[in-house]
Amino acid sequence: MQNYIELNNKILIPQLGFGVFRMTQGDQTYDAVRAALDAGYRHIDTATAYDNEKSVGRAIKDSGIDRKEIFVTTKCKNPDTRARIATKAFETSLENLGLDYLDLYLIHWPTDHFEQAWLEMEDLYLNTDKVRAIGVSNFYAHHLNALDDKVLPAVNQIESNPYYLGQEYIDESLKRHIDVEIYSPLGGSKPEFNVLKDTTLANLAEKYGKSPAQIVIRWHLQRGLIVLPKSTHKERIEANFDVFDFTLTGEDMALIESLDLNRRSGHHPDEIDF
Ligand code: A2P
Repeated sequence: MQNYIELNNKILIPQLGFGVFRMTQGDQTYDAVRAALDAGYRHIDTATAYDNEKSVGRAIKDSGIDRKEIFVTTKCKNPDTRARIATKAFETSLENLGLDYLDLYLIHWPTDHFEQAWLEMEDLYLNTDKVRAIGVSNFYAHHLNALDDKVLPAVNQIESNPYYLGQEYIDESLKRHIDVEIYSPLGGSKPEFNVLKDTTLANLAEKYGKSPAQIVIRWHLQRGLIVLPKSTHKERIEANFDVFDFTLTGEDMALIESLDLNRRSGHHPDEIDF
């Protein structure tokens, strides 16, 4: 059974979503999103920079699922933020996705002129019916403080996993009543990180009769965070959604937290060259 979280503007978001970073436009993205929707996910997180919006949109359409049941997010890419063309970028994303509204539109990174992008997104949110919520990604306190305050971001999407908690950054958002979405929740795609091979997680997996990935996803859910695992494999996509029939004890939650190595798999928000 899926859980929903109420965002600060009162709209509901499925707490477990499906991420499509690094999936190529065409069959790979299309098949993964179809598999995710078949498995029960109702929340798809893409970005213009991933270059797969068209395939995401086609998969949503072909699924036959009522549009209103699926929560769709995309993000304004850095060059468009820098060029101060967030509104145009938003319209292009809608067109690529084949949708007439988005559930959530994010600024992908706090790159140059993100303040201007936010003003344009406030305008889209307040004065059109084309977007149900707006938010940010990879924002730390100093970026959040620089935003115009007509609209509070609904979410901030940042990295966290057992080897990189980033708890202070999560708390910076939560204390402002901004919900936090987690990317690279399983440790990201760099093989050298190997979060899912951790022996503590393997022991917990055995204890609960689940896989290490299911343990980690459940841990994020019990932290109260919105979690966006991704996979290109149907069986993993399905298994990653099968996390609503068990509960980690407080002790085991703390044990997973203790694995933190402060080892980020992605980039620091202030070091952006893309
Ligand atoms: P793959 O597409 O080969 O399944 P994330 O970025 O969400 O933290 O995930 C990191 C990687 O973990 C993904 O690219 C995915 O690669 C892999 N993965 C996802 N689910 C599982 C799983 N259940 N078991 C093992 N690996 C997984």
